[in-house]
Amino acid sequence: MTLLDFNRLVPAHIQAFEAYAPSRPDTELMRLYGVNHLHRLNNNENALGPPPEVFQIVEAFPPRAVPVYPNGDCFDLRRVLAEKFKKNPAQFLVGNGSCEVIASVIKAFCEEGDNIITADKTFAVYEWVAEFSGFEAKLVPLKEHTFDPDAMLSAMDGRTKILFVCNPNNPTGTYWDTPTMIDFLDRVDNRSLVVIDEAYCEYVEKENFPDGLALMERYPNLIVFRTFSKMYALASLRIGYLCGTSEVVDIVRRTHVVYSVNTMAQRSAAAALSNDGAFIKDTRKMVTEAKLLVCTMLDELGLTYLCNQGNYLMVHLPFSDTLMYRKLMTKGIMIRTMTGFRFPNWIRISLVQLPVMAEFCRAFKQIFQEE
Ligand SMILES: Cc1ncc(COP(=O)(O)O)c(C=O)c1O
Repeated sequence: MTLLDFNRLVPAHIQAFEAYAPSRPDTELMRLYGVNHLHRLNNNENALGPPPEVFQIVEAFPPRAVPVYPNGDCFDLRRVLAEKFKKNPAQFLVGNGSCEVIASVIKAFCEEGDNIITADKTFAVYEWVAEFSGFEAKLVPLKEHTFDPDAMLSAMDGRTKILFVCNPNNPTGTYWDTPTMIDFLDRVDNRSLVVIDEAYCEYVEKENFPDGLALMERYPNLIVFRTFSKMYALASLRIGYLCGTSEVVDIVRRTHVVYSVNTMAQRSAAAALSNDGAFIKDTRKMVTEAKLLVCTMLDELGLTYLCNQGNYLMVHLPFSDTLMYRKLMTKGIMIRTMTGFRFPNWIRISLVQLPVMAEFCRAFKQIFQEE
């Protein structure tokens, strides 16, 4: 029998790509660290859980719906989205998390020799999908922890198909205001597509924060990504979407796997959107209170941190982020180490209810003082 020759079968860009290792299940981590509880401050989930309207859907989900395929193109949900955002249902494409729509957009527009542009320190999936698909990801350094529009424009060439702007940025929380976004879109001048990833937009209360869905009327090359994982707390159901002109969406749909979004996710997302906003208000209040508590402690300790938009903040440690991770884990608190995301010895912390934040502050302070 001929020996299997991986070098011949596996493309060079796949051979060079290092797979991302997700964290182990909570039960396994609790066993490993010898703790009986675990506060998840690592994934920017909304610890309040989804709006009450979603509980009704989940609790009453009929077992007879389980053997039936979901709606293949999220027909009903796209109608709800269209109604809410005053668009046409054909302008929405729903995916198994917004991660899936990132992949669909890159597949739809890039071919051999093309590139995408994004920041060096942002949500890494744009870069990863481009690279494991064999396309160059040009990574433009952040300027003062913010996407740098001039440098992104300078990096463009005739093969740049998509510019990804994460607004507000995960993990720095910085954002482009409306004039900055408009100026950028004007200067891109339809030469490439621009994706604005608004995964955390519902957390932003700034008047000058641009609404990508509104800007789309003026810029046909604009695509906006949103997710139900963050504010709406549907992370385990995996549902997110993009909105663009119907022409752009028609192209992306060709590369998008139909039936990838399950029925419970589709119904829960529609229910979440029916909330009158009280839920968003409560979540924002929780995040504001958490920021105050944690930042006060960080100021007392004299640490450098980034606390901007979104339900997360970052702290620079004077020692190893992995050490802090391990020590916090022994106290039942999971945070995100950031060295692997080009922020050496920074950690990112999700902002949740005050009692948990107080527990985090006590543990963090104790570890910090021991080191
Ligand atoms: C900026 C950003 N975009 C997209 C996503 C992916 O979200 P989803 O759960 O919808 O795939 C995340 C998740 O962390 C994110 O931080």
